[in-house]
Amino acid sequence: MLGDELVSRAYARNADFWIGIVRDGLDPFQTKLTDPALLEVIGDPSGQRILDAGCGEGQLARALTARGARHVHGVDTCAEFITAAREHPEHQEESATFHHADVAALPLPDDSVDLVVANRLPHGIAFPQRRFHEFARVLTPTGRLILLSMHPCFYAARSERSAANAGAFDLDEYFGVRTVEQHFQVADRRSPAASVQQFHSLEDYIAMVTGAGFVVTGLREPHPSPAQREENPWWNEHFTRPLFLLLECAPRP
Ligand SMILES: C[S@@+](CC[C@H](N)C(=O)[O-])C[C@H]1O[C@@H](n2cnc3c(N)ncnc32)[C@H](O)[C@@H]1O
Repeated sequence: MLGDELVSRAYARNADFWIGIVRDGLDPFQTKLTDPALLEVIGDPSGQRILDAGCGEGQLARALTARGARHVHGVDTCAEFITAAREHPEHQEESATFHHADVAALPLPDDSVDLVVANRLPHGIAFPQRRFHEFARVLTPTGRLILLSMHPCFYAARSERSAANAGAFDLDEYFGVRTVEQHFQVADRRSPAASVQQFHSLEDYIAMVTGAGFVVTGLREPHPSPAQREENPWWNEHFTRPLFLLLECAPRP
């Protein structure tokens, strides 16, 4: 199993790299696909109390406070990210609080948030089911949980995304725990440490979500539109299979 320590160590080593990529807007998967899809599904956050689980350096939290969220709690195990989020010039203490904590033990009372967003987190944590139970605890009964992850069915290491590899799948791995370990490579920058991502089969992933007391109310697979692909052929080379899965969930009534 992926150890929390292993995840935290990799993010600590990659912190400066990651902050640069996010703040310079260098990752088109994030800026053109996942962020727009996420913000669209979130809708108008005005007046909402929000948990940004695995908040990184705080970019989503800043976007949500700028859109009128009542308060955003960002939680992350990486101390470097929490410091960067607190020190960002647009950070507003009255509308966002960044906690150095594990989402398995949230520093928040029961029923205290209207929305939990886990942006690019579910494939990067050990024992996701423990975290999903914690999300259920802090959400109000009418709240929402939004999970944006790499696609459990199709995501593969860059070196394995060729068309020739499209049919190859190790079923024991897929129905067990599939690990993808590779350096982040964005534009011409390569992360100092490899990141470790861990995938469960779609049925296991959904079972963890429903087992924590949620129903899935929406599902999207953010992908480039035909217009985006026509405008920039980069997509044809770099988006050869569905890479992301976005789930919208609600506490089971
Ligand atoms: C891929 S990054 C995404 C960061 C941010 N959500 C974004 O999209 O820019 C995953 C983040 O989850 C954090 N993380 C991993 N496991 C965690 C845990 N158990 N509790 C809190 N944060 C965790 C990492 O430190 C990292 O910042």
